[in-house]
Amino acid sequence: MGSSFMTSHCFVVVTLFLLYVTATYGQLSQNFYSENCPVLERIVQTEVSGALSAEKRMGASLLRLFFHDCFVQGCDGSVLLNDAPDSERDADANANSLRGFDVIDAIKTQVEANCPGVVSCADILALATREAVVELGGPSWTLLLGRRDSTTSSKKMAEDNLPSPSSSLDELVAAFANKGFTPTELVALSGAHTIGMAKCGFADEGQVVRPECKLDSLATTALDLQTPEVFDNTYYDDLMRNQGLLHSDNVLITDTTLNSLVRTYNSDPALFNADFSAAMNKLSELGLLTGDEGQIRLNCNKVNVN
Ligand code: HEM
Repeated sequence: MGSSFMTSHCFVVVTLFLLYVTATYGQLSQNFYSENCPVLERIVQTEVSGALSAEKRMGASLLRLFFHDCFVQGCDGSVLLNDAPDSERDADANANSLRGFDVIDAIKTQVEANCPGVVSCADILALATREAVVELGGPSWTLLLGRRDSTTSSKKMAEDNLPSPSSSLDELVAAFANKGFTPTELVALSGAHTIGMAKCGFADEGQVVRPECKLDSLATTALDLQTPEVFDNTYYDDLMRNQGLLHSDNVLITDTTLNSLVRTYNSDPALFNADFSAAMNKLSELGLLTGDEGQIRLNCNKVNVN
C-alpha cells in the first residue's frame, strides 16, 4: 500500500515536472525581457528614431534585413554574422545590398551596457524592424521575444532560399510555400516594397527606363513610385498601373486571383495592414532557436568564443 502510494505520488510529481518543463522550456513571450532588461524597448525606440531622422530609407533597410534573416535558417540573427567566409552576407542577394547593420550594432552596444549578455541580436533585429515600420506609418504586430542567436550562417542556404527579382510567379509562390506562406501572404508581404529603394540594375526589363536609371545601373530608384518613405498601400496602385519596379513585383497581377487581391489591398488599406501585420508575425516566428539552443551573442557580427 505504502509503496504503491509512493509510486503513484512520484508519478504525479514527475508528470507535473515534465508538464512544467515543456510549458516553459524555450517559451517565447511578449515580456521576455521585462525583468532582466526593462530598458530594451526604450533603447530600440531611441536608436531607430535617431536613424530614421538621419535617413528615412533606413527603416526599409531594417525591414529587408529582418526578412532576409528569417527566410534563410529562421529569425536567428545569422544574417548579421561576418566572422567566417561564405556566410549569408556574402550571398548574391545580400552582398553590397543589405543595409542597417550599423543600427543593430548601435542598439546592441547600448543594450550590452545596460543588461550584459541577456538580449539576443535576433530579438534586437525583430524589435528594430517593427519599430521602423510603425514609425514610417505602418501597422504594428505581435512580437514574442526569446529568440536565441545562431552560431552558423551559410551563403549557400541564403542563395537557395532567397527569391530573386527576376523570379517568375511560380518561383515566388514556391519560394514562399517552402517557408509556409500562402500566395495571399506573398502578395501581402510584397507590400513591404511600399518603402525603400533598389538599384536600377534590378528594374524589370519590360518597363520604361526611369530617368534616374538612364546613366547608371548602380544608381538607386524607389520601389514605390508614389510615397517611398511612407508605409502605406500605394505600392498596389503602382502594380495596377504596371509600374512596379521589379519583375517579381509586376508578376503578382498576372494571376487572376492575385490580381483581384492587389486591387483589394489598393482599395482597403485596413485589410492590407491587417494581413501584412499577421504575415509579419508569422515571419517573425520562423525557425527560432529557443531555450538553451544557440547563444546570446555579445557582438552581433561574431559568434562568442568560449
Ligand atoms: C517577393 C520576393 C522579393 C524579391 C524578389 C525582393 C527583391 C528585392 C530587391 C532586388 C531589392 C533591392 C535590393 C538592392 O537594390 O540592393 C529589394 C528591396 C527591398 N525589399 Fe524586397 N524582395 C522580395 C520580398 C520582400 C519582402 C517579403 C520584404 C519584407 C517583408 C521585402 C522588403 C524589401 C525592402 C523594404 C526593400 C528596400 C530596402 C532598402 O531600401 O534598403 N522584400 N527587394
